[in-house]
Amino acid sequence: MIRRLGVNVDHVATLRQARQARYPDPLAAALIAERAGAAQITVHIRGDRRHIQDHDLRRMRESVQTLLNVEAACTEEMAAILLESRPHRVTLVAERPGEVTTEGGLDVAGQAAEVAAFAKRLGAAGIHVSLFIDPDDQQVDGSGVAGVDMVELNTARWSETGDRSELLRLARATARARAAGLSVAAGHGLNLQNLRDLVVAAPEIEEYNIGHALIADAVFLGLEASIRRYLELLA
Ligand code: PXP
Repeated sequence: MIRRLGVNVDHVATLRQARQARYPDPLAAALIAERAGAAQITVHIRGDRRHIQDHDLRRMRESVQTLLNVEAACTEEMAAILLESRPHRVTLVAERPGEVTTEGGLDVAGQAAEVAAFAKRLGAAGIHVSLFIDPDDQQVDGSGVAGVDMVELNTARWSETGDRSELLRLARATARARAAGLSVAAGHGLNLQNLRDLVVAAPEIEEYNIGHALIADAVFLGLEASIRRYLELLA
């Protein structure tokens, strides 16, 4: 299987916003990422706009040649933005005001009707919808009946603890999602040290969305070289 790398360029925008400057431009990073072999560009437009801005989304939608995957919370504000910009895919995430980064998966099991209705609106506009969930049976089963075609498994616990039982949990969730007819992506906290074990444990994960570590590595290696290292591991 060819595993796809989605490069999350939020962190380039974080650097720009830290100085309220015009650079570095996350779109410039996205175009380099595509040239280096990324299959997808991922951005998270947050309610507080701490990194990606509305104009970034518009420019990305025009210029990204691969696939644009936009992470967003299930809010009316985001629905309007997503239905206007119509990215190839939207990954619905949980967002808590003030959190440093996404803290957990979307509670699909607990908010089944709301999530399904939100996904349906996006789907009607031709947008593919994925759900960012914790690798739990309940959340996978909830996703299977939410009318979406993909889930992204939250790898935060694996990346934070290095606990091998987490690999098992991710592998089980992958198998369960595949059995429910869902494609499986993974992301959060993945880096050059913890990626290989996950690929081996759950070979059916077809897409990896990676941001913080990949951009951090790019500070020392350059963006293209950093991306090539991740692609080598996925191959
Ligand atoms: N996938 C989702 C749904 C996310 O929210 C994030 C963080 O924005 C990522 C992947 C990438 O995580 P990281 O920046 O830790 O690689």
